[in-house]
Amino acid sequence: MSVLKLYEYPDVVLRQKCEKVTTVDDELRRFLDDMLETMYADKGCGLAAPQVGCTKRVIVLDPNPSDEDLSARQPMFLINPEIIWRSEDTVFFNEGCLSLPEQRAEVERFAKVRVHYVDYNGVEQEILADDLLAIILQHEIDHLDGILYIDHLSRLKRSRLLNKLEKYRLECNRKQISHDKQEISV
Ligand code: NI
Repeated sequence: MSVLKLYEYPDVVLRQKCEKVTTVDDELRRFLDDMLETMYADKGCGLAAPQVGCTKRVIVLDPNPSDEDLSARQPMFLINPEIIWRSEDTVFFNEGCLSLPEQRAEVERFAKVRVHYVDYNGVEQEILADDLLAIILQHEIDHLDGILYIDHLSRLKRSRLLNKLEKYRLECNRKQISHDKQEISV
């Protein structure tokens, strides 16, 4: 397995609508394994293919990406995931994204979603998700349609966040340091 290059805002690949996967084979599984390793390496709890420069409808996630207790990890691979039901109630969650390093903002999401997908072995599955898993699924499935969490913010909040991102990057360049990845991002 290998860690893949992360694509960050405003790369155009993050704005593309991804294509459905037609064949689940060893090549795709290798890619999914690499995506998962990349996600853990960058301390994320979700990663969508466009974030590593690929426009296939695949995501990986883990609501419990623990470094200390590897047995507590709960990795999931979802191919062609589709939200087929949304709850009426919504929740706010302070989201981050590996493609917008070190930034966070409150985003309104459906509290529960039912998702249809194809699993690692090519078998069709359905999952009813709530809590963090429901948030991650909505965030990652958005990525497959070229949507970022900042698109859910008001224009003012979005421009503030992007200004902060710009400052953070200038600071990193000045100090010639890489991102300090302390917090979990999806
Ligand atoms: Ni993201």
